[in-house]
Amino acid sequence: NAFRTCLFKRLKQQEVQPGNKVSIIGSGAVGMACAVALLSKGITNDIALYDINKDLCTAESADLVHGSLFLNNCNVAKCCDIGSTRDSRVVVVTSGVRPKANEKPSEVAQKTADIIKCVMPSLVKESPKAVFIIVSNPSDVMAWVAHKISKLPYERCISTGCHLDTARFRLFIAQLLGVATSSVNAFVLGENGERSVPMWSSVTVGGVRLEQLVPKIGTSEDPMQWCKVHKDVVEAAAKVIALKGYTNWAIGHAVADVVSAIFENSNRILSLSTNAKGMCGIKDDIFLSLPCIVNKWGLFGIIRPHLSKWESNAMKKSAEQVLKAQCDIKL
Ligand code: 2OP
Repeated sequence: NAFRTCLFKRLKQQEVQPGNKVSIIGSGAVGMACAVALLSKGITNDIALYDINKDLCTAESADLVHGSLFLNNCNVAKCCDIGSTRDSRVVVVTSGVRPKANEKPSEVAQKTADIIKCVMPSLVKESPKAVFIIVSNPSDVMAWVAHKISKLPYERCISTGCHLDTARFRLFIAQLLGVATSSVNAFVLGENGERSVPMWSSVTVGGVRLEQLVPKIGTSEDPMQWCKVHKDVVEAAAKVIALKGYTNWAIGHAVADVVSAIFENSNRILSLSTNAKGMCGIKDDIFLSLPCIVNKWGLFGIIRPHLSKWESNAMKKSAEQVLKAQCDIKL
């Protein structure tokens, strides 16, 4: 147990909601990608959709339920009011605003924060024992807003954070090496997006640490310039958004993966955004991605990362940015 404490910080265990109902707040492209991933992978067959746009919500739930025969006899309820999300095991919050041209990121963040502030209290009232997964961007700040407003325990108020960044990182390394994505062991931590931190010092492929072959891996002095892989990770979403206006499929699968880790009580370790205070030298209550142990309680523990000097500096910058973004939000 002493060794476990050395490896990870334990969170509290609290009573959780039974059942497998998942409520998805927001039936836009991201919310629907979450629903499709959850249903087609058989993670749940009980979904409640909520959106302020009632017509959209009605149409999307009907369209999905028509596929019930092929989707584990699923029940996809449209929620005319938040009351119908009652007793959810997991609540996935995807609502937000899409940035307009020339709109400042802080303005977009405030608008999305206002939506989160508005929906969280009634969602928590209906499902006080649910695990809340905040997907709305900027996801670290929005998870912090959701926590501030709801006072949910940290283990049940998380964001997908860098789970998708990690998936892209593993994919791009795998493509370069010609191995399966699942055979690349790697993490992206810190702030979701531009200032995410690739953990180059711990990337392993088939048990071999790449840093042993390329001592300066990830830094500008690396002759192989592996840092381009992280640049691709950072630019991945923007490239898709430039062509289709948003991203949805990959984040939908990332969310479904987190939900399955909860439902299977798996203790799998995923890069999710949580309160990082006390970890990596962080002194404030800020949400950042760290390797989190996920099980039926939501977060069971948080791994204490061992960072190289370069990674540690990058984490500090990530933390400063999130703190600044959090302070800019009017609660
Ligand atoms: C994504 O990474 C934009 O956060 C969204 O696909």
